[in-house]
Amino acid sequence: MSLLDRLIVTTLPIVPRPIVGAISRRYVAGETLAHAVDVVRRLNQGGVMATLDVLGENVTRPEEAAQAVQAYQEALQALARERLDSNVSLKPTQFGLKLDRELCHRNIRAVVELARRLGNFVRIDMEDSSCTTDTLELYARLREEFDNVGVVIQAYLRRSLEDVRALRGRPTNLRLCKGIYVEPRSLAYRDPELINRNFDQLLGEMLEAGVYVGIATHDERLVFEAERRIDALRLEPHQYEFQMLLGVDPELGRLILSRGHRLRLYVPFGAHWYAYCTRRLKENPRIARHVLMNLVRRSPGPWLPSRPEGAPAPRGAPRATAPAAARRP
Ligand code: FDA
Repeated sequence: MSLLDRLIVTTLPIVPRPIVGAISRRYVAGETLAHAVDVVRRLNQGGVMATLDVLGENVTRPEEAAQAVQAYQEALQALARERLDSNVSLKPTQFGLKLDRELCHRNIRAVVELARRLGNFVRIDMEDSSCTTDTLELYARLREEFDNVGVVIQAYLRRSLEDVRALRGRPTNLRLCKGIYVEPRSLAYRDPELINRNFDQLLGEMLEAGVYVGIATHDERLVFEAERRIDALRLEPHQYEFQMLLGVDPELGRLILSRGHRLRLYVPFGAHWYAYCTRRLKENPRIARHVLMNLVRRSPGPWLPSRPEGAPAPRGAPRATAPAAARRP
């Protein structure tokens, strides 16, 4: 951990809540579903899709997991009612993965089932490495029953290439990201260059196998490599999408849109924003460094990227009021 990172972790507990709130405002849509719906609407108006995340993880009681089911079901209903182009992303530990795997499966199944009825899609986020095997098994089991569910592969994990190859031949929908948790060297690459090379190789394997990939990164080098692969395989924009976090590097978002690609923003919201932000920052102070750097740099333009005027809309691009059936993963 660098000196700056150590400083951030030790001073975090004394940073007043309103300051954490002010910093996180850019990255979290708000406390309520109404706030999140408002952000998604504005994103859709700018030609950007969304995925809603009801903040929360690592529940310790089944009742908390039941609340998560209810919150996600309400989110799905609201998205359908408002005819918004957004799916949802959820964390298995918020649904009881660490309590009871059967309970977790039942809970997530209830969300996926409602999503299918509403013509929507559920992405299962990937948490730390203690969850990887269970999450992939959960995904495989759900996928036997539903096609409106996808999972995440982390490029920093040494096992990911094998995991992706094990999925080959089965219809699959994957988000590819670097990975955000602090993992031991025995399990994860530490060298940023190796993580990027693994990301690129994984992306190549996925796209060549016909997997629908959510390419989730703000690293312009990876966006560059991804565009080369998309071009070489002559993929149409509806065969993949780029994904970014709300509030991070809107200029890159605009560039991605201006190249005719589809873009989805991850939109977290909920009452647990403070615990979420501080825990994340403590777990991985690199995020705090990114946040501080971005605040200092203050990227130009609005924080919600929107398709620049005159930029080509990709084929199959979402409309501001996409009918439920037209929503894509
Ligand atoms: P990198 O870390 O090199 O960042 C590139 C640049 O982006 C930085 O220089 C910085 O300017 C900016 N940046 C990146 N992250 C930032 C942040 N949080 N705040 C401010 N600026 C930031 N991880 C995981 O383990 N499981 C998951 O399920 C998901 N899901 C997910 C969904 C989506 C849509 C995205 C975009 C990301 C995730 N992640 C994730 C997080 C991911 O693993 C990774 O930690 C971050 O995306 C940062 O990695 P980059 O590829 O952006 O590169």
